[in-house]
Amino acid sequence: MTDPVEITIDELGAKGDGIAYYGGGSLYVPFALEGERVRVTPMGERGELEGIVTPSPSRVEPICPLFQTCGGCTMQHMAPEAYGAWKQDLVRDALASRGFEDLAINPLVATKPGERRRAVLTARLIGRRLLFGYHEARSTRVVDVDHCPLLVPALNALLPKLADYLPLFMTKKKEARITLLATHSGVDLSLDDVKDMRGGQDYLKAVEMAEDLDLARLSANGETLLERRPPLLRMGAAQVSPPAGAFVQAEESAERAMAKMILESVGDAKRVIDLFCGSGTFALRLAKKAQVWALEGEDAALKSLERAWRFGDKLKGIKMERRDLFRRPLLAAEMKKFDALVFDPPRAGAKAQCEEIAKSQLPVVVAVSCNPGTLARDLRILVDGGYTIASVTPVDQFLYSPHVECVVTLTR
Ligand SMILES: C[S@@+](CC[C@H](N)C(=O)[O-])C[C@H]1O[C@@H](n2cnc3c(N)ncnc32)[C@H](O)[C@@H]1O
Repeated sequence: MTDPVEITIDELGAKGDGIAYYGGGSLYVPFALEGERVRVTPMGERGELEGIVTPSPSRVEPICPLFQTCGGCTMQHMAPEAYGAWKQDLVRDALASRGFEDLAINPLVATKPGERRRAVLTARLIGRRLLFGYHEARSTRVVDVDHCPLLVPALNALLPKLADYLPLFMTKKKEARITLLATHSGVDLSLDDVKDMRGGQDYLKAVEMAEDLDLARLSANGETLLERRPPLLRMGAAQVSPPAGAFVQAEESAERAMAKMILESVGDAKRVIDLFCGSGTFALRLAKKAQVWALEGEDAALKSLERAWRFGDKLKGIKMERRDLFRRPLLAAEMKKFDALVFDPPRAGAKAQCEEIAKSQLPVVVAVSCNPGTLARDLRILVDGGYTIASVTPVDQFLYSPHVECVVTLTR
């Protein structure tokens, strides 16, 4: 093994690692900040941080004792101002790589610890010992987490009790995936890669757990075992009960900020298209003022949207359509007579769909994306088709991680 060396960190990389130009190449040093003088042990391209000789003025105490062990967070050691600028730069750099060099990027819309309402944890049995938490960084090992400062209080209250029950439902062979969603009517818990709990003693134990933990709903391996109350999320003037384990924006405050930007961008539009609409996070809010055509690939998500809309308060019409928008994007010709379009695709982006939007005459398009790389590719298509980028706003939906959400408004 190489001896530790003292080096200066030259810049911060896209995953949050400090990067030092060292030995004719780049050395990636997790948890080191730009400008810091550090002692590291070089291990190939990676440097193990041994100590900080001269800390950056932007270095702060992490808020969690598990920081640097638990792989859930990578950036708790950075002061908010520098952290916000770094996240802005992630978006700036991604857009610059597609030729958008001089775009103004709005300040990061911040979120706070204690606001994450949806989390996916892992559980593993080692002999009779349960490990329940997040994976270590760059490892398959599981770090025990009985409190996570990012989670809403309702989820933290649940973790220790849930850990008592989990071994009853796990198989020795597989890690279990535990998806927690804190809703207004209680926690929606989905267990995946667990025993078949659909009958006998295991089912009775599952019911006992659901009652003891006062869960709203309990699902296992994709099937709902028990719904004590419908899990409900307020979206505008409607209450949505999303399918178990389905996509839901991870932070309510981030969701509200994104929805506000979308509503402002579409303004007085009377007819709006919402692509990749999920259970209606944006469609239900848009329907307060506009007729909406909402398209999505998952049937279950559309059913949740349909139900929420029927019981919503004074909502205008929402036409819902199940459609694989990768294989069969909405065509430019189908967008005629609409005033605005919103799209919020998965991480892969919406290349084929953007090729159609680029051919349309829609005056306003709003892109929501959790992946600046595919967002930049898609924006290039729209701008080459004649659109102008009016605003770019990063949103910190994934606090202390290298992930960043973004809302972009385009006009023509
Ligand atoms: C990032 S989520 C956004 C959902 C919704 N806009 C929201 O805010 O809750 C992406 C959505 O795209 C849907 N999706 C993924 N692939 C799709 C495809 N090929 N065609 C249509 N929808 C798809 C997913 O089911 C998911 O609901």
